[in-house]
Amino acid sequence: MRGTNRQLRLARRPDGMVDEHTFELAEEPLRGLADGEFLVRVAYLSIDPTNRVWIRAEPSYLPPVGIGEVMRGGGAGAVVESRNDAYPVGTGVLGLLGWQEYAICGRDVTANAVPPGVPLQHMMSVYGATGVTAYFGMLDVADPKEGETVVVSGAAGATGSVAGQIAKIRGGRVIGIAGTDEKCRWLTDELGFDAAINYKTDDIGVRLDQLCPDGVDVFFDNVGGATLDTLLRHLALGARIALCGAISTYNAAETPPPIHWYVNLVVQRARMQGFLVLDYLDRFPEAVRALVQWVSEGRIQWRDHVVEGLEQAPRALNMLFRGENTGKLMVRVGPDPSA
Ligand SMILES: NC(=O)c1ccc[n+]([C@@H]2O[C@H](COP(=O)([O-])OP(=O)(O)OC[C@H]3O[C@@H](n4cnc5c(N)ncnc54)[C@H](OP(=O)(O)O)[C@@H]3O)[C@@H](O)[C@H]2O)c1
Repeated sequence: MRGTNRQLRLARRPDGMVDEHTFELAEEPLRGLADGEFLVRVAYLSIDPTNRVWIRAEPSYLPPVGIGEVMRGGGAGAVVESRNDAYPVGTGVLGLLGWQEYAICGRDVTANAVPPGVPLQHMMSVYGATGVTAYFGMLDVADPKEGETVVVSGAAGATGSVAGQIAKIRGGRVIGIAGTDEKCRWLTDELGFDAAINYKTDDIGVRLDQLCPDGVDVFFDNVGGATLDTLLRHLALGARIALCGAISTYNAAETPPPIHWYVNLVVQRARMQGFLVLDYLDRFPEAVRALVQWVSEGRIQWRDHVVEGLEQAPRALNMLFRGENTGKLMVRVGPDPSA
């Protein structure tokens, strides 16, 4: 007899943080595979701020997850049964596997093979979507030059921590903004950032006046809202702002507050550009090759923050908004054959 699959399905759209009513834990029998399909035992789910965006009613860059549907989410796992010769049993894969223990891929769900020898966990973090986002956002969109001053918000998170280190590799002077002294120490003492600002205890504007009297050349923004507004007041001539995300707005039930200081883009002849890593899918191998190289040279370090158990995924999502993660947050759902 085939086994069962436990899944978290969207039950109700939240106002603010997700709660115990947002998802329901369901169990269904696993169906048989059709030709071309393969069954993946999920090992890790990537917990991302964008999960919160996907359960809003308003369409975003992907349609909203429907009520009753399995929660959309990136994941990694291994093929445990296959009717697809390209994905034999044992292959490690990555894809939008969903918040569940097993995913049937190959027709409705696309999954890509993980390069042999790379641990699944690293494909969720430094070589995964957040590492690749940091690479293209920093190098293609922000494009820091030797000696320029670069500020990164959300700097101790999965994307920001790698983005800041890439700016250091480019020869930038890098300042991170994060929510605890411990995170700030990690940035300066271990990752090589030149300075860090704890936005919960320090006034970002005052600290920028002290640290960057000539202004900020590059701002890699993960946070949006008031942080973005403050940075707009500190731009250097010809500055570039890469808009990666705006986590401070994702839980807001109301329209986010206005950005007041955009006119400084005119004054400073600056550029502000949003980007989505999805637009770089065909260039992912380039980013992963560079990241592998830098990791092997000890120039990029990262942290994985692993929470245990499928049912913990909603709580883990809230951790992102409370700043309770350092580095890449993921949930371990099943065994990791690559560990
Ligand atoms: N454009 C793209 O293609 C793309 C791809 C991936 C991610 N992103 C975006 O990149 C950003 C970071 O994502 P991630 O996956 O790397 O998450 P992450 O940075 O690992 O985790 C989120 C962090 O954001 C900080 N934060 C939460 N609420 C905040 C608030 N109100 N004000 C300031 N900081 C806050 C918290 O750290 P503190 O302790 O410092 O507050 C938290 O640890 C998000 O905006 C996400 O949407 C964009």
